[in-house]
Amino acid sequence: MEAAVKGQQFSRRDFLRISGQAGLGALALSLGGRTFAPATTLAARDPANSRLKEITLEAREIMWELAPGKRINAMAYNGQIPGPELRLKEGERVRIIVKNSLPEPTTIHWHGVDVPNSMDGVPEITQKPVQPGETFVYEFEAKPAGTRWYHTHFQEHKQLDLGLYAPLIIEPAKPDPFPFDRGYTLVFDDWATGTGRALPSTREGTAGGRGRMDGMMGGMMGGGMGGMMGGMMSGGHTPGYDVMTINGKAYPATQPLKVREADRVRLRLINASANHTHVIRLAGHRLQVTHTDGNPLAHSVEVDAVPITPSERYDVQLVARQPGAWILYCAQPGHAGAGEQILVVYEGREGDKPEPAVQGVTGLDVWHYSLGRGRDVVPRPWGEQRMFNLTLSGGMMGSDVWTINGKRYPNTDPLRLKKGDRVRVMLNNMSMEAHPMHLHGQSFKVVAVNGKRLTQPIIRDSVDVEAHMGSVVIEFTAHNPGDWFFHCHKPMHMDGGMITLAKIG
Ligand code: C2O
Ligand code: CU
Repeated sequence: MEAAVKGQQFSRRDFLRISGQAGLGALALSLGGRTFAPATTLAARDPANSRLKEITLEAREIMWELAPGKRINAMAYNGQIPGPELRLKEGERVRIIVKNSLPEPTTIHWHGVDVPNSMDGVPEITQKPVQPGETFVYEFEAKPAGTRWYHTHFQEHKQLDLGLYAPLIIEPAKPDPFPFDRGYTLVFDDWATGTGRALPSTREGTAGGRGRMDGMMGGMMGGGMGGMMGGMMSGGHTPGYDVMTINGKAYPATQPLKVREADRVRLRLINASANHTHVIRLAGHRLQVTHTDGNPLAHSVEVDAVPITPSERYDVQLVARQPGAWILYCAQPGHAGAGEQILVVYEGREGDKPEPAVQGVTGLDVWHYSLGRGRDVVPRPWGEQRMFNLTLSGGMMGSDVWTINGKRYPNTDPLRLKKGDRVRVMLNNMSMEAHPMHLHGQSFKVVAVNGKRLTQPIIRDSVDVEAHMGSVVIEFTAHNPGDWFFHCHKPMHMDGGMITLAKIG
């Protein structure tokens, strides 16, 4: 039985769930013609649902110390940056009670999780913003397995930049294809504190491989000639990002990672930055890439450095065979100096002095998309084949306007889809900045990058489309019904209009 509420489809199960949360009669509130699940204080805990994992998050303003002497006004979940890492088992149901103690509205998006549309956290599309003092209850099944994350989806340009993000790890129900002895999660972020020299933006992107050298060169030049120039040449009013953090801290305040000789160590890398692509290296070690956006590869790929664009994740593994103290850092010019370093220390080698970070990637094996062979974890399509061409443009002459097929959201044309459709989207970047495009609600295959076909596509939910006519072709099965945001993950570009909707009916 299905109950349709003003165009939004609720399954009977959804209906019961919402009823359980809000009490009958308060099924939904209507706002501007759309119908949403209500923000509400959770009533008595429903004993029938006691198998639910329950988690409480509070968003509030805090004073945060990035490094000794660098204290800033920030926003955080449960008083920490990143917010608490949520660990769920694949298939487990979770209820997350979010209290908004900020002086402004907020929402949470569960990035990379196939949530029901009403739990997706997009203001005015899937829910009303949660007002100051209000509580909102998110509830969903944890799937698919992998390194996911959660973050504010309300005025990201401010709130994401100020610290409202955290890891969300969904552990696989089946044995992990890449077993490991110990694991760490590293979340990278860029901060505009006004206390140092602004770093050049990483405009070109690097993930597809083609723009790699340009990207690094561009950065070098910007760094040498003064970041201001770089900042002004494209993309309008980029804030002066001058501090780079790992897990909310700038080196030397970063917390060292301990390893034991012979350990297989998994590092889950998450880029929560607004603007910057990072190129991650661990001195003395090669890194084996095992997962793209949380989705396992068929085989690991060994490289020296892993570029990671905003909102992307990589799981990488290292085998601890080089006793000592080593620095894990970003090789982009200026980033390590701005704090993006963390020590990896072998047991018993706590006193060792690490070699300093080295800028650039000359002569190194650098990860790019077409090196990966994915496992096909995307549901099989059963509907029609659909094709779309999206041209990404904007930022001309320093403007803040960013478009898809010449239009700015909310005037962009949505992708109108039916459940089960096999959807191909060709993304063409006609601008001078890379765009990490993220689709909500379902992951996709990357079937081609810069004109090169990937024989065994990798699976992602964010994909970097390189500057200067970079292109990516993605394919997905429209399996999760609802209205899903599909947008550039750089908040400035979102604000500028680079958003469309995948409407799956
Ligand atoms: Cu990670 Cu629409 O967001
Ligand atoms: Cu963009």
